[in-house]
Amino acid sequence: MKAIDMFNLAGKVAVVTGASKGIGKAMAEALAAYGAKVVLNSRKQEDINEVAKEINEAGFEAIAIEANIGDFGQARALINKTIEHYGGVDIIVNNAATNPVYGASIKTNEDAFNQIMQVNLQGIFELCKEALTSMQERGGGSIINISSISGLKPEPGVGIYSVSKAALIQLTNVMALEWGKYNIRANSVAPGLIKTKFSEAMWSNDEVLKHFTANTPLHRVGTVEDLMGIAVYLASDASGYATGGVYLVDGGYLLS
Ligand SMILES: NC(=O)c1ccc[n+]([C@@H]2O[C@H](COP(=O)([O-])OP(=O)(O)OC[C@H]3O[C@@H](n4cnc5c(N)ncnc54)[C@H](OP(=O)(O)O)[C@@H]3O)[C@@H](O)[C@H]2O)c1
Repeated sequence: MKAIDMFNLAGKVAVVTGASKGIGKAMAEALAAYGAKVVLNSRKQEDINEVAKEINEAGFEAIAIEANIGDFGQARALINKTIEHYGGVDIIVNNAATNPVYGASIKTNEDAFNQIMQVNLQGIFELCKEALTSMQERGGGSIINISSISGLKPEPGVGIYSVSKAALIQLTNVMALEWGKYNIRANSVAPGLIKTKFSEAMWSNDEVLKHFTANTPLHRVGTVEDLMGIAVYLASDASGYATGGVYLVDGGYLLS
C-alpha cells in the first residue's frame, strides 16, 4: 500500500456513538471526510439528523440512528440496523459517556453508579459483541474506545466516572487480546480537558481552568479538532499493527 493511501477509509462503515456534538461529532466528521460511511448515534434523533445533513451536504456520507447506549437492547439494535443498512461494520468509536455526579465520590448513589457503568462500560461491551461476527466476516475491524486521562489518574470531582474509564481501558485490552486473531484491533483514547458541553463544569470554573492550563505543557485546554487525527489514524490501515494501546491527547497534562 502506498503511504498516501494509508489513511483512506473508502468502503469502510463506521459507527460513532455520542456523535451529535463534542468529540464524537468531530471524530465522525473526520472519518467521513476520509471516506467512511458513518452511522451517527445519540439519544436524540433530531440532533443526529442535523449532523448527518451537514456531513452529506459537505459531499460525504452519513446516516443517523438513535439509541441509548446504556440500554443494551438499544445498543445491540444500533449495530443490527447498521448491518441492515450498510451490510456490515468495520469501525466503532465508543464515545458516548455519562457522568451524572460531580463532587466527592461518596455522593454517588447506587442508581448513579449503575448508570455510569451501564453507559460507559457494559453498553460498550454489548455493542462490540454484537458487531463481532460482522467484523470477522469482513476480515477485521477497529474499535476505538474513548476513555479519559481520569482513567489513568483519577481527577477530583469525577471519582466513579474515573473508575468506569479505567475499566474501559482494561475492557479494550481484553478485546485486543482476544479478538486480535480476527484482525480486530482495539485501542483507547485518553483525552485531557477538552472544551465541550460535557466538561463545562470544569472549564467554566476559573480555578479548575487555571489548574489545567498551568499544569499542561501546551498551556491550553483541548478542542474537539484536536481529536480528529487520532480517530482517523486508529480507524485506518495507518495503525494496522497498533492494538491494545492507550493514546493520550492531553497536551502533556499527565506529565505534570
Ligand atoms: N470533554 C472532555 O474534557 C473529555 C475529557 C476526557 C474524556 N472525554 C470523553 O469524551 C467522550 C465525549 O465527550 P464530550 O466532551 O464530547 O461530550 P458531549 O459534548 O457532552 O457529547 C456527548 C455525546 O454523547 C451523547 N450521549 C450521552 N449519553 C448517551 C447515551 N446514553 N447513549 C447515546 N449517546 C449518548 C450526547 O447526546 P445525547 O445527550 O443527546 O444522547 C452527545 O452526542 C466521552 O466518552 C467523555 O467521557 C471527554
